Order: sequence, then structure tokens, then C-alpha cells
Amino acid sequence: MDEDTQPENDEKFYSNAIQYWSEIPATIDGMLGGFGFISQTDIRDSKLLLKQLFNSKIPPGRDYALDCGAGIGRITKHLLTGFFNKVDLVEQNPEFLAQAKEYLGPKLEDKIGNYYSVGLQSFEPEDKKYDVIWSQWVLGHLTDSDLLTFLKSCQNGLKQNGVIIIKENISSSDEIDKDEQDSSVTRPLFLYHRIFTKAGLSCYRQVKQRNFPKGLYTVYMFILKPQAQSSNNSELNL
Ligand SMILES: C[S@@+](CC[C@H](N)C(=O)[O-])C[C@H]1O[C@@H](n2cnc3c(N)ncnc32)[C@H](O)[C@@H]1O
Repeated sequence: MDEDTQPENDEKFYSNAIQYWSEIPATIDGMLGGFGFISQTDIRDSKLLLKQLFNSKIPPGRDYALDCGAGIGRITKHLLTGFFNKVDLVEQNPEFLAQAKEYLGPKLEDKIGNYYSVGLQSFEPEDKKYDVIWSQWVLGHLTDSDLLTFLKSCQNGLKQNGVIIIKENISSSDEIDKDEQDSSVTRPLFLYHRIFTKAGLSCYRQVKQRNFPKGLYTVYMFILKPQAQSSNNSELNL
């Protein structure tokens, strides 16, 4: 998708998504479009990815992560708080964030830093704050140009050896699938790579999610490093 295939009206693209999510229950099933039962399988492969990353030659630190499009905190609770001392959440729906506080509960309270109630298209992470910035099932809600800006600003938010991890649906052809209902796009693989490169990021690893039910989109996880940092240590797994 080049810039000329962007939604004609960005404002409507974003306001329709806000409207859509305002009607969705603040539950795991709501977060996963009625497929709440895939959550464990999803988390299992994500854990494996992080374990392998921490066993790599130049791992990121384990201090601070950011959960982007966090919803009710499913990934924060079941993945990120197990690996990091502290996690911030950014999510545009304030009701989901309110539910996240409940869902994460008092036991994890000390591990949660900030709840940012803002769209990713308007969010800039603090400089050099995070070891890992995790975005899952949310980037289809950004236009290409906002995604590019977001990824660039995420790089400023990374500590030394920090990485951006993206986990997203990928379209089965080279076309973008537009979903008018939730106001999102599903991008093809080549387009993600084009945007990563434009943003100055190297794809260090690319891994396919396993064992999702048939009929769902293929899901990929990407570990991205700022090009300056990544040197020659890429280990792309297709
Ligand atoms: C499919 S849910 C995924 C939630 C979470 N990442 C997970 O995997 O459990 C998409 C989430 O993205 C949020 N969202 C949609 N558009 C957004 C935007 N522009 N900025 C930030 N969050 C957004 C929705 O409110 C919803 O919580």
C-alpha cells in the first residue's frame, strides 16, 4: 500500500475504530473478536519468542516494557509482567484501561507504571525508557504514514539493545484487506517490511505463530532493531 491507497479520510478511519471498540465488551473474548480461546496458544509462542531473544547474543534488558494497544491488559498480565520489572500500557479506550486495573489486580500493581489513555497515532514514548515495545493486534488501526511515524518515535523510546516487537495478522495475498466494521486494515508481509525499512528498522527475527485454528489470518511476530544497532546479527526465520 503506497500512501495514495491510504484511507481517504483519516479522521473517519480513526473515529470509526473508536466507535467500534466502544461497543465491545471489556473481556478477553472482546479483545480477541470472539476467539478468547486462542489466548493461551498466542501467549505460549510469544513467551518462546521472548525466551529465545533473552538467550541471544545481544539481548535487551529486562527492566521496562511497553504494551501498545493493550486493551484490558491481557498481554501485560500473561506475558510482559513475567519478563520485565515494570510495564506501561497505552490504549485509546479508557474503559478498557479501567478494566485493565481490575484485571491486573493488586498482585501486579507494583509492576505497572503508567496507563496512557491515547491513540498510538498521537503517542510518543519517553526517550530511552523501554527495553521492549510490544504492539499486538493494533497496528492495523493506524494508517501507513502514522505507523511509520509511530515506529520512528518508538526507536527514540528504546534503551540500549532495546527492540520493538510486532505481532500482527498478515493478509494471504499481496493486497491489503480492509475491514469496514472495525475500521482496520490487514497488511501483506511485503508492506510491513517496506514500512520497517522506511522507519530505519531491521527485522532481526520473523516467526510465524503456530497452532491457531484454521480460517484465521496468518500471524507473524517480528523483532525489530534500529538499523544502527542491528549491525550484522540478523537471524531471520521465515
Ligand atoms: C484486537 S484488540 C487487542 C488488544 C491486545 N493487544 C490483546 O492482544 O489482547 C485491539 C485493541 O487496540 C485498541 N486500539 C484500536 N485503535 C487504537 C489506536 N489507534 N491506538 C491505540 N489503541 C487502539 C482497541 O481499543 C483494542 O483495545
